[in-house]
Formats: sequence, C-alpha cells, structure tokens
Amino acid sequence: MLKLGVNIDHLATLREARKIAEPDPVKGALIAESAGADSIVAHLRQDRRHINETDVKRLQEAVKTRLNLEMSVNPEIVEIIKKIKPPQATLVPENRREITTEGGLDVVSNFDQIKKVVDDLRRNDIIISLFIDPEPEQIEAAKKTGAEAIELHTGGYANAKDKTEKIRHLKKLKDSALEGVSRGLAVNAGHGLNYENVKDIALISGLDELNIGHSIISEAVFTGLDKAVRQMKELIS
Ligand code: PXP
Repeated sequence: MLKLGVNIDHLATLREARKIAEPDPVKGALIAESAGADSIVAHLRQDRRHINETDVKRLQEAVKTRLNLEMSVNPEIVEIIKKIKPPQATLVPENRREITTEGGLDVVSNFDQIKKVVDDLRRNDIIISLFIDPEPEQIEAAKKTGAEAIELHTGGYANAKDKTEKIRHLKKLKDSALEGVSRGLAVNAGHGLNYENVKDIALISGLDELNIGHSIISEAVFTGLDKAVRQMKELIS
C-alpha cells in the first residue's frame, strides 16, 4: 500500500513566528503517527528557519514509525545528522532565499559531492533518498550514488497551469517511477501535493511513499479550529 510521510516543518514555522514553545512539532508528529502516518519528515535547514537541532533530537527519540530528515549536503548539517542517526535522510537542494525547496537535486552535475555524502551517511546506517526532478539522467545518477531511494519532485505537476501541462508532468512522473523501480530504487514522491491533486499521483504504479506537508497542516487548521474555539469559550465562561 502507498505510504504517507507527514512533513511537520510548518508547525515549527508557526512556533518560530512567536519564538515560544508552541505549537510543538514533536506533539504534531505523534498525532500524525496515531492518525496513520507511515513516517515523519522534517527539514533541518542551514538557516534553522523552522526545525532546529533540539527538535530533531527529540523527534529521533519520540517517532516510532520512521523519521526521515531532509537535509542539504552542507558539511555542518551532515555532521549533525550523523550524530542523530535517523533511520532515513533525504538529500535536498537548499537555497537560503527560497521560500521552500525549489527544484530537485542536480545529481548529474554534482555527482562527486553527493556520492561522498551518500557514502558517509550510509556508513552510519542511514537509508538515503535523493530528491530529484523526474528525469531519466537524474535517476541513473541517483542509482550510481548508492542511494536506496529517490523522491520524485511533484512540484511541476502541482503547479502546472493547464491540463496539457499537467498531463505532460504526470507522464514524466509515471515513466520515472517505472524507471526508478526497474533500477531497484524505492520511489517516493512529494512537493505541492494537496487534497485535490494527490489522487492522480496516488494512482502511479511503483510509488512507495508520498511526502506531504503544507496541505495537511493547512487543512488541520480548519478541521481543528471549531474545536479549539469551543474549548476556549468553555474555559472562559
Ligand atoms: N518532499 C520534499 C523533499 C520537500 O522538500 C518538501 C517540502 O519541505 C515536501 C516533500 C513537502 O512539500 P509540501 O509542503 O508542499 O507538501
């Protein structure tokens, strides 16, 4: 069955807006797990704009399913992740000015640097996934690094302006999933998936796991707001 990894970065983004303890992303991770999430995803960015080192240490202790830490190949981050030793890490490109991860990793152009990090992390018993665009040459290069998995960037599909573009992106994702599976890779996908566009993606054969953050946390605000207001009303009356 297709698995769901829940990205909890946005809970930490909300916390950082106030620089206080709530909402606690670890609490969110436990709720996601009890609701059926198959893994918990968090991104320790170099600028620490949301998730911080204390969060990843606490997540490593608390998460019972599988912690999948997104990370860049920055040496400082690699050293931290090696100490934490999550069961899985996903290498992503990182650009300080971006609002969220933009393109996939260019494994073809940065092969030596990425392979070195993959080797280093794998020696520490961390399963590695590479976040890449759905392109055959990137899949081939990803396989050569020794990574166990790839995560196909679904942003092109999610942001497609019209039906023709959407169908083109969907075909690329379908072909890439088959290509990845035929090369013996576990194939995951994510970025920009929501309650509408996830259906076509979930039908792609060969996919192992979808990683979704923004739309789940956004939906949670509205599914939880009614209860939260009622609770506060009751308390103050
Ligand atoms: N997968 C990767 C590699 C990502 O970087 C992100 C965003 O942090 C996601 C999945 C989740 O994307 P979204 O928040 O748009 O669901």
